[in-house]
Amino acid sequence: MIQVPVEIALKSGAKLAKPIYGASGQILLRDGVVLDKRYAGRLQSLGIQSVFIEGGKVKVDEPIAAEVRIKAARALSSVGRGHINKVNLCSIVSEILEDVLSLRGIVDSLSSISTYDGYTYTHSVEVCVIAMSIGLQLGYKRHTLLELGIGGLLHDVGKLKIPYHIISKPGTLNKKELDLVKNHPVLGYEMVKNHSQVSNRSAAMVLEHHERWDGSGYPDGKAGKGIHHFSAICGVADIYNAMTTARSYRPSYPPHEVYELILGLGSTHFDYDVIKAFARCIVPYPRGSLIRTSDLRIAQVVSNDTEHPYLPVVVFLDDPEDKEVNLLAAGLTVKSAVTLEEKELSLLNRQLPVPADERCAS
Ligand SMILES: [Fe+2]
Repeated sequence: MIQVPVEIALKSGAKLAKPIYGASGQILLRDGVVLDKRYAGRLQSLGIQSVFIEGGKVKVDEPIAAEVRIKAARALSSVGRGHINKVNLCSIVSEILEDVLSLRGIVDSLSSISTYDGYTYTHSVEVCVIAMSIGLQLGYKRHTLLELGIGGLLHDVGKLKIPYHIISKPGTLNKKELDLVKNHPVLGYEMVKNHSQVSNRSAAMVLEHHERWDGSGYPDGKAGKGIHHFSAICGVADIYNAMTTARSYRPSYPPHEVYELILGLGSTHFDYDVIKAFARCIVPYPRGSLIRTSDLRIAQVVSNDTEHPYLPVVVFLDDPEDKEVNLLAAGLTVKSAVTLEEKELSLLNRQLPVPADERCAS
């Protein structure tokens, strides 16, 4: 599985490896669909910039079952419409927790593709997953993980109350619009704070997930330990997922860049203990990533070990036997992440060309 820009996928007639989610978190295009020019206009009008397609040497399973995602998105939509009594948040988040536990500690290859109007739904489910994974690293027990998951799922529910044309506006927001968007934690908190299914700690995540350790966040400019630990977990999960997900107005940032950025935010933006837990469950090169190793070959990441996050187990694209190689044991390092260009896609199952300037690098 590889993530490529939509134009490249359409030209190559590739098979979709991950579904595309629509406006309310429903499946719009299933995995397995063969992409061709017939889909070009539709994908463009929906704001889809990149897709995951089949290919390469590593098959990456979807970590969270599509049915569970859809159920969670429906629940979030109900809460947004004021019908929190009609959903069983604990039961839905329990199902997500089962999938999280099966990941055995590492959240890998989570990012999904959604239309520009479905982002809040897919993002909320993914923040729920990452928050519970960080909680697992912190040794939290099941009932505490469920509280974290409920807060993660609901953290942006206030956005469902903001006019859609403002939330999805690709350009710069004017002052009035920005003030409205920055009020979403307060709007969300008002929606969930007195509900029996939402504990005080989960509600704090909704209100405080944009607060920052150094007091630079919003809505109240809280600082340090004045921000609930759960809210700091939610803030880290939120930033990581938002930046590694493509939006209608920008592509996704490479996971290793976001990983390094967040590791550098300990004790300025976030509680350092939370950052340490984040670094034990998130990796710079998720499964399926293409990397160039220190011997200038191209490889695809098969698995990761958070003890050595920069030294994944890989399969080299030029290896006909598809042998798994542990970079640590092989004495190799990652030289760079590789982004596929159009001309390279057709070569994926053969050795990719190394640019001339890199061949000469010492
Ligand atoms: Fe938010």
